Amino acid sequence: MRDNRIDADSLEVLRGRRSAKWRMYPDDVLPLFVAEMDYPIAKPIKQTLTDFVNSNDLGYLGSVPEIAPAFTDFAEKRWGWTPDRSHFRLACDVGVATVEFLRANNAESVIVTSPVYSGFWSWLKELDVDIVDVPLTDTFDMDFAGIEKAFLSGVKFFLLCNPHNPLGRVFGREELLTLAELADKFGATVIADEIHAPLTFPGTEFVPYLSLGPVAERTGVLVTSTSKSWNLAGLKAAFLLTHEDKAATFEKLPASMHYRASILGAFSMATAYTEGVPWLDSTIETIIAARDHLATELERLLPNAKLEWLPDAGYLAWIDVSGLGLGETPNERILTDAKVALVAGTQCGPEYVNHVRINFATSHDIITEALERIAAIV
Ligand SMILES: Cc1ncc(COP(=O)(O)O)c(C=O)c1O
Repeated sequence: MRDNRIDADSLEVLRGRRSAKWRMYPDDVLPLFVAEMDYPIAKPIKQTLTDFVNSNDLGYLGSVPEIAPAFTDFAEKRWGWTPDRSHFRLACDVGVATVEFLRANNAESVIVTSPVYSGFWSWLKELDVDIVDVPLTDTFDMDFAGIEKAFLSGVKFFLLCNPHNPLGRVFGREELLTLAELADKFGATVIADEIHAPLTFPGTEFVPYLSLGPVAERTGVLVTSTSKSWNLAGLKAAFLLTHEDKAATFEKLPASMHYRASILGAFSMATAYTEGVPWLDSTIETIIAARDHLATELERLLPNAKLEWLPDAGYLAWIDVSGLGLGETPNERILTDAKVALVAGTQCGPEYVNHVRINFATSHDIITEALERIAAIV
């Protein structure tokens, strides 16, 4: 069905955008790196922004009782989960929410599962904590023996990325439950970054960590935002939510965290959850078609590159480029010679020099052109 899909803006229009994706590199480079989508944003969100601007209402963020019920309602309808919304805190983004949470809870070391979102590494480096990497297995499952070993050694925090960036993998209920049971056994906290969850594709079940029952309620903290799924990263609003059993972990969060979020972002977030679902569903259809186009074109143009996981969610894909013969730093060759900007695998974990992450939330033409440019240097 073509009907509900959204057309990406043309390259000419995109080049006029002033966001990081379009300002980082010169115009001869096709940017498919940072997680911004090339589609127009949802109309109800444009309306919210326009209303605030037209009423000169651009002050500091006050109370926003609209967001928690908007999210709860969305979570109920989408995932059949009714979050406990009494412990809900705003922050300007998921990065700040995570860093402030870890700081307020005196974290000394944190588990991550590489390959994983570059931000996790930079956020943790901002804090004086040890990063304990327990890489995913060869089949991209969690390595529970490794995780248990890390908990046994005294690590008290686990930074979960679900859906997983850069793979686009959604972890299953059993796997998440095993993680929750392990965390519970060792009195650890799982910070569940579920920012890509609304973009889970039909046919795949997304299970919110905190929906897993008492073991998850005793161990979990959700950090999320509408910045990825509705393409609003510049609006700066995110939140943390936890269950009563874990409420003590919010006690030392700084009050200033709330005021550093933006009024535009906070109210757009409420609009996204309440009125942005038709747009979200169209976007999902659009990115599934883009994902399939990427897979087909990779096969045709770069048969020696390997799509490591056919994404079940989101618009990022993880590609093994070791078969392309692009030397020791393939991502640099791709940028310098093919003029395509991707995320270097090493940003997702030191050993992934032979991988790149591609953002496919764009037009089919741009995807094809990017791959043609790479094929030309192989
Ligand atoms: C898993 C994950 N978490 C967080 C972020 C960034 O979120 P924020 O801009 O709200 O810090 C991203 C951005 O790509 C992401 O992929």
